[in-house]
Amino acid sequence: MQHKITSFDQYQKTYQYSVNEPEQFWNEIADSFVWKQKWNKTLEWNFKTPDVKWFLNGKLNITENCLDRHLEKNGNKPAIIWESNDVNEANRTLTYNELHAEVCRLSNVLQNNGVVKGDRICLYMPMIPELAIAVLACARIGAIHSVVFAGFSSKSIADRINDASCKLLLTADGLYRGNKTINLKEICDEALASTPSIEKVIVYQRTHQKIDMQIGRDVWWHSEMQKAATHFDAVEMDSEDPLFILYTSGSTGKPKGVVHTQAGYMVYTYYTFLNVFQYEEDDIFWCTADIGWITGHSYIVYGPLLNGATTVMFEGIPTYPDAGRFWATIDKLKVTKFYTAPTAIRSLMANGIEFVTPYKLDTLRVIGSVGEPINEEAWHWYHHHIGKEKCPLVDTWWQTETAGILISPLAFITPTKPTYATLPLPGVQPVLVDAQGSILQGNDIEGFLCMQFPWPGIIRTTYGDHERCRQAYFASFDNLYFTGDGCRRDADGYYRIIGRVDDVMNVSGHRLGTAEVENAINEHPNVIESAVVAYPHDIKGQGIYAFVIVDKQSIDQGVVDTDAPFEEGAGIDNSLQLLNRAAFENEIRNIVSKIISPIAKPDKIQIVSGLPKTRSGKIMRRILRKIAEGDISNLGDTTTLLDPNVVEEIKQGAGISTKN
Ligand code: PRX
Repeated sequence: MQHKITSFDQYQKTYQYSVNEPEQFWNEIADSFVWKQKWNKTLEWNFKTPDVKWFLNGKLNITENCLDRHLEKNGNKPAIIWESNDVNEANRTLTYNELHAEVCRLSNVLQNNGVVKGDRICLYMPMIPELAIAVLACARIGAIHSVVFAGFSSKSIADRINDASCKLLLTADGLYRGNKTINLKEICDEALASTPSIEKVIVYQRTHQKIDMQIGRDVWWHSEMQKAATHFDAVEMDSEDPLFILYTSGSTGKPKGVVHTQAGYMVYTYYTFLNVFQYEEDDIFWCTADIGWITGHSYIVYGPLLNGATTVMFEGIPTYPDAGRFWATIDKLKVTKFYTAPTAIRSLMANGIEFVTPYKLDTLRVIGSVGEPINEEAWHWYHHHIGKEKCPLVDTWWQTETAGILISPLAFITPTKPTYATLPLPGVQPVLVDAQGSILQGNDIEGFLCMQFPWPGIIRTTYGDHERCRQAYFASFDNLYFTGDGCRRDADGYYRIIGRVDDVMNVSGHRLGTAEVENAINEHPNVIESAVVAYPHDIKGQGIYAFVIVDKQSIDQGVVDTDAPFEEGAGIDNSLQLLNRAAFENEIRNIVSKIISPIAKPDKIQIVSGLPKTRSGKIMRRILRKIAEGDISNLGDTTTLLDPNVVEEIKQGAGISTKN
């Protein structure tokens, strides 16, 4: 079977086949890989427990499929082209031969440092080729990688390391992001004070800044690599052995470790990359995500390499040295397929067209969007100014839990429609359900988006807590995987994602739980309670609005001045501990930065004396969301509230006219 779909008609036939004969369909895709031993059963599944297994009893190593099998024909083809944060620093290109050799060397380094199959390894690294090498080296030795985005705080690293009892940490001295240099090792050192499972830390020298190295625990990457051979036999893994853990936010306070396994992840990322982007041999594919997120795992590293593609890694940010950086880089590297997030598009759009016009962008063939709903204006700007109306814009809907793209146009093959993710990929069976879990039939409807049949990339468990996986995804609706998204299916049967219907926010494409941010805010000594909701934000998609109750004593004593006007740069009077409003807000933001990451800082903070709660004590976020949106025309039923007056006060505090 030809895996690459080449016409709309073929898409329709393939889709039908994948629904009628799912096992046969996926067998034919899986057949094209290098297996150490073929699977003897294609699928076992049960959405109640949940328990999903693909390609049972197959033995393989995913890196042989990403690297070794390409060497004979494509050994000298660039696998990774790296673009530095600094425009004046030369690109680094690693061919498949070179990448293979580096991965083998690092696998030896890991082995020399005591790593064995099944160990968990934390990666906290800059966007440099070594991060991709590290991911693949873990996979080659059979260790489970847990990449933590290098914008997370030391507390977030420590929590993630401890949750999975990681044995080793791979990091760097520092990283460059725009005009900032960040001391990564220092952040790690703080985390390492409370991570007893870590035995060794391997440190890559990127910024050459001064850092502390703890003798016996910390070793230099470059000196370890010098000692290591460039041959390493890939360890045999079972299809269902874990490949990686990736932490993502949910509706409770603690991020969960989404677990993906070897074979299903491999087959799914390979197939979706090939078809959504209509991969061609001469492509230069650039996904601008960070490898710290699922998009980077699946469409910078695994998906492209499984296809033998050339993948671009970018260390910097879209606005450095100016807002033309993406477009300059596309021309410079002759990028053919470009995949980014709506938030980046909106911010570049706001910077003005003069940052786009100097560039030709004539190598581009396909452009893509991921991570959040793309609004109509951004869609058209991207399609017109970047895609020059000739590149299909694939709006790809998926999640950390799904491993790869589930709903998206296939470039050139299936239709696109502004703001619509359009149609399911072969093997994907979406349904929309109502609040009772009844499947909604027909078109022109809205409901909760669920999947009624497993695909190879579906989440297997949440690390160390299977019940949490069941609760979060399989308990809401009987026999369905629930995505947490609301969705519309239009009259033509095209899907449009409306957004999260749970307590998950999507800020600049980053997933954050309201409870997670509230827990951080509540750490402030003067805060009694808080409630966080998302509100529409022009650039970020969603912004964070925090309603905060401050203890009465502090207000009475003037420790927190609830009425003081916002004053930039205002400080704290140490003797009186008198905080004015601006200083208090800064403290809240700093605490959130420190506990989670700067990406989770609230945009707006309102001090309130109470929160709208039901008699059973549940915060009615629906009301807070409306107030945060500045829309109080329909607050719904407030009679069940413990204290309806509180709503009036919050409305006034938000500066909203109370006249309905
Ligand atoms: O709400 C959906 C939104 O992002 C959520 C998944 O976030 P995460 O696991 O961090 O993965 C992001 C990258 C795949 C989804 O539940 N989302 C993702 N893609 C889209 C989207 N919303 C609308 N349109 C999309 N294309």
